[in-house]
Amino acid sequence: MTAGTVHLIDHPLVQHKLTLLRKKATSVSSFTRLLDEVSALMAYELTRDMPMHTVEIETPLATMASRLIDGKKFVLVPILRAGLGFLTGMRSVVPGARVGHIGLYRDPKTLGAVEYYFKMPSGMRERDAIVLDPMLATGNSAIAAVDRLKQCRPRSIRYVCLLTCPEGLGNFHRQHPDVPVYTAAIDDGLNEHGYIVPGLGDAGDRLFGTR
Ligand code: URA
Repeated sequence: MTAGTVHLIDHPLVQHKLTLLRKKATSVSSFTRLLDEVSALMAYELTRDMPMHTVEIETPLATMASRLIDGKKFVLVPILRAGLGFLTGMRSVVPGARVGHIGLYRDPKTLGAVEYYFKMPSGMRERDAIVLDPMLATGNSAIAAVDRLKQCRPRSIRYVCLLTCPEGLGNFHRQHPDVPVYTAAIDDGLNEHGYIVPGLGDAGDRLFGTR
């Protein structure tokens, strides 16, 4: 289907929380808490092969060489606004990460992505970027965000979402086959409004209670 790499995170804890997030009866406060929790769990998978360096430390009993990741090398890049829902959980696991923001909205007629904000930390060429957006739907926002991010030449880019679908993944990886996608589910497809089905609805509205 796609040339790029897709990591399907099917850990039972992630799948359990995803089911609760999908339920339409889940409240705004529960949705926010569940998204925090699921994004922290997904961060384990995302950071699995991150480079480490060795430092010398003292335990109460001895000196030893032990390993650390350099959290400051990470840049978490939420796509506004739903991507903010992934930020607290990811930062709880990688507190040293820097944060850049990309503001995009979806034109309701064309479903195309329109940029209104872009701010990254300095030193992007030495950073590993993780783009955050709960829904990779048509792929238009994801493609536009990564197009823009690549202008800053980060050392690597990963894309993390909660849900995606074959069309969105295909579109994304046609443009960015070098960017691996991490997701908790690949749903059936898109409806005529560009929403993922069965999905969970509008992630931004469910997160911020704006409907
Ligand atoms: N954005 C959402 O919030 N939900 C979808 O299903 C698709 C795009």
